Amino acid sequence: MSKTRIVVVTGTSRGIGRGLAAYFLKQGDVVCGCSRKPATLRHKNYRHSLLDVADEKAVVAMIRGVVAEYGRVDVLLNNAGIAAMNHALLTPGSVARAIFATNFHGTFLFCREAAKAMLRRKTGRIVNFATVATPLLVFWISNVLFAGLAALGMMSKSPVWLLSSPAPERVIL
Ligand SMILES: NC(=O)c1ccc[n+]([C@@H]2O[C@H](COP(=O)([O-])OP(=O)(O)OC[C@H]3O[C@@H](n4cnc5c(N)ncnc54)[C@H](OP(=O)(O)O)[C@@H]3O)[C@@H](O)[C@H]2O)c1
Repeated sequence: MSKTRIVVVTGTSRGIGRGLAAYFLKQGDVVCGCSRKPATLRHKNYRHSLLDVADEKAVVAMIRGVVAEYGRVDVLLNNAGIAAMNHALLTPGSVARAIFATNFHGTFLFCREAAKAMLRRKTGRIVNFATVATPLLVFWISNVLFAGLAALGMMSKSPVWLLSSPAPERVIL
């Protein structure tokens, strides 16, 4: 069996996602990344999808493309996320919607599509990214962010994911 892993990382244009993608490429793995802005990584084993993680059709097409090209998804790192640091009373509805769309809905879509691919092979690993601010109830950040990430935490614990892989882990940053 090939030791090369097929690793899907969301949010690879900068930050932690970009660092993770570079790390796995260095390990000799294939990395399939995505972001709304163009790729900032160039590597023979790197493939980039230009998409919004909340766009269902685009997420389905990306994971289908990965499976068509490489036959599997070994690892999914749901890193793409946004934050709002403003007080709840000063948080526009559009910001609340964007937080849920990216942090919760986008993560759900990638979990669902990758889990289908993992279920076929009965193996795979999903890691969802959260924040330490939620369990610690750091009050100065928006409660919308809390709510979105708390929902993500509950979704990650759902037994439905056990059908395909270990339940998604939650990395707390
Ligand atoms: N850094 C921290 O101290 C910290 C603390 C707690 C939690 N976290 C979590 O850790 C993760 C990474 O944080 P970071 O600091 O590396 O963030 P970052 O520097 O802002 O990078 C976020 C990445 O996600 C992508 N992204 C955001 N919204 C997206 C969308 N709707 N569709 C597709 N891609 C999207 C961005 O690319 P585009 O803008 O090009 O789309 C970017 O590549 C996030 O989930 C964050 O909530 C970070």
